[in-house]
Amino acid sequence: MSRKGKVTVVGAGFYGSTTAQRLAEYDIFEEVVLTDIIEGKPEGLALDMNQSRPVEGFETKVTGQSTGPAGEGYEAIGGSDIVVITAGLPRKPGMSRMDLIETNAKIVRNVVENVTKYAPDAVLIVVSNPLDEMTALAAKVSGFPPARVMGQAGMLDTARFSYFVAEKLAVPVGSVRTLTLGSHGDTMVPVPSACTVNGKPLSDLLPADEIEALVNRTRNGGGEIVGLLKTGSAYYAPSAAAARMARAVAEDSGAVMPVCAWVDGEYGISGVYLGVEAEIGAAGIRRVVERDLTEDELAGLRAAAEAVRAKQADVASL
Ligand code: APR
Repeated sequence: MSRKGKVTVVGAGFYGSTTAQRLAEYDIFEEVVLTDIIEGKPEGLALDMNQSRPVEGFETKVTGQSTGPAGEGYEAIGGSDIVVITAGLPRKPGMSRMDLIETNAKIVRNVVENVTKYAPDAVLIVVSNPLDEMTALAAKVSGFPPARVMGQAGMLDTARFSYFVAEKLAVPVGSVRTLTLGSHGDTMVPVPSACTVNGKPLSDLLPADEIEALVNRTRNGGGEIVGLLKTGSAYYAPSAAAARMARAVAEDSGAVMPVCAWVDGEYGISGVYLGVEAEIGAAGIRRVVERDLTEDELAGLRAAAEAVRAKQADVASL
């Protein structure tokens, strides 16, 4: 089996370390680099992951590297094809993602400045919250073409929605297709017209009020987990989603996924990072895929665009 390419995960917390593990276990990369500002943390986690290789049977090498305030250690990410940015604080119970904006903007800005210097050709996948704003900030700070910067949210929200539907109807998760667009937050836009179970429209299987309850649980899906954990936020499903996006880039697969992408005219919306379906390839977003939406869904998507547009303008000055 041929392995190629280098992927870096910045931030070796729960989200970053599980993402690195998933990427390494795919066994398709030459190297996975994991970095963090806490000295010894990425090195220790990388050593531990490398020691799992004989058991799990993967050859991808994992490198851990701590980084300093002036960018010391960033040489380790040199030549990365993909950089997943997970650095930043997670929510505490009762917090909204937006409460993290000032703190995480400083962190993401610093990370992106260094990433741009050492991995100028990488595709950036941002997962730090608030997601839509941090993705826009990363694009601005990097100066990369918008198609080379994307955020992970729609894959996760969709996965949560699909899980809730599968649980409700007692069917395998694999038989459920759902879709959410818009923002990773209050203006998440569920798209019931694209939801099916074994090919049948979800609306034929569940009454509208029950679908609405599942949509609400999805919208608060991250908060529900934060409330249970009390320290930290979700990472198993989030890392699964981010790793799949990185894999689509690495394999130049053309997979269509709901992601946070630069929208430039699609759905009559322009100049904003927003959750939409997009075809993913080696250079990032190949194209935003527009689908037929009902009037309500389209109105929801446009409202989400305006809500995140205002915040994305603010974040540039943080
Ligand atoms: N460079 C690299 N790593 C950093 C930096 C930085 N400038 N600043 C902070 N970090 C690291 C922390 O040291 C910590 O190890 O980011 C890591 C964050 O890990 P956790 O606290 O475990 O948070 P996690 O659950 O991984 O979430 C990370 O993803 O879902 C979002 O809202 C969440 O913004 C948060 C991010």
